[in-house]
Amino acid sequence: MSDRASEWRQATLFDDELEVVRPDNIKAGISVEDRMSYYQAFLDKFKGKKTTDDCYTPPEVYDAILGWLKGEGLIDDTTNIVRPFYPGEDFTQWEYPDGCVVVDNPPFSIYSFIVRWFIERGVKFFLFGPQLTLRVHKADVCFIPTNAVITYENGAIVSTGFVTNLIEGVRIWTAPELHAAIDAVAPPSRLKAKNTYPHNFTNCATLGKVATRLVDFKVLSSECEDCGNLDAMRDAGKSVFGGGWFLSERAAAERAAAERAAAERAAGISVQLSPREWEIVKRLSR
Ligand SMILES: C[S@@+](CC[C@H](N)C(=O)[O-])C[C@H]1O[C@@H](n2cnc3c(N)ncnc32)[C@H](O)[C@@H]1O
Repeated sequence: MSDRASEWRQATLFDDELEVVRPDNIKAGISVEDRMSYYQAFLDKFKGKKTTDDCYTPPEVYDAILGWLKGEGLIDDTTNIVRPFYPGEDFTQWEYPDGCVVVDNPPFSIYSFIVRWFIERGVKFFLFGPQLTLRVHKADVCFIPTNAVITYENGAIVSTGFVTNLIEGVRIWTAPELHAAIDAVAPPSRLKAKNTYPHNFTNCATLGKVATRLVDFKVLSSECEDCGNLDAMRDAGKSVFGGGWFLSERAAAERAAAERAAAERAAGISVQLSPREWEIVKRLSR
């Protein structure tokens, strides 16, 4: 591969100064000035698409991830970073120089294949992955189900985790500082802070969860008192949506029991380990 093509392959896709050009154009000897802006074409491909394969990473999120990797000592300023995933490309045709690290957001539809492909070739990587299906069967990697809620450039909001072979001997890590670093530059839009109310207070929002789970809960009129807002909420310039009721200690205890029952029903069947699976746990615990 020519130096120039190599440079192209390792370039940051989102550098404002950079005109990203395709290697076939480089080979054809077309001048950079005459070439269409591949970057713009790249952006156009995402218009209207909302699949996870079409999720274009906000540059500030990408930078936050690089910053975290550096802070953890997993890469440094000299590391050759490769980003092979973008429209029309075939990552298997790229060259991965010794010491390079692939830091990119791959198409999730072939996520497991990609992870295995890099492992088999000894290529170091730190990849975005689908939070809920991050696990790749028996892959010797570190899974980071950090649950970063990322709004991608196409508007899709995706719970994102990461997978890497840069961290040896660790299979699973929540990496809260990575989550915090991403949140700091791109606060998740769909997460709203929820208030938790005191034991001796309830409202229809809370009771609705109990009712949905078909748990019977009743409060006598002598055991509760109507309440439009709580002092603490009022002091904070807020209000309890829809108001609620103060509860006696007995009613509060019954409420807690009803909420526990509702949570258990919400959790569904409690799955147990088989004797064979307990043997695995015993082996791991030796
Ligand atoms: C989730 S997007 C991420 C794009 C970009 N790397 C980023 O971080 O914003 C994944 C991209 O990989 C591209 N892609 C799909 N199959 C690919 C393959 N076999 N090799 C390389 N890229 C591929 C898709 O077209 C899509 O543009």
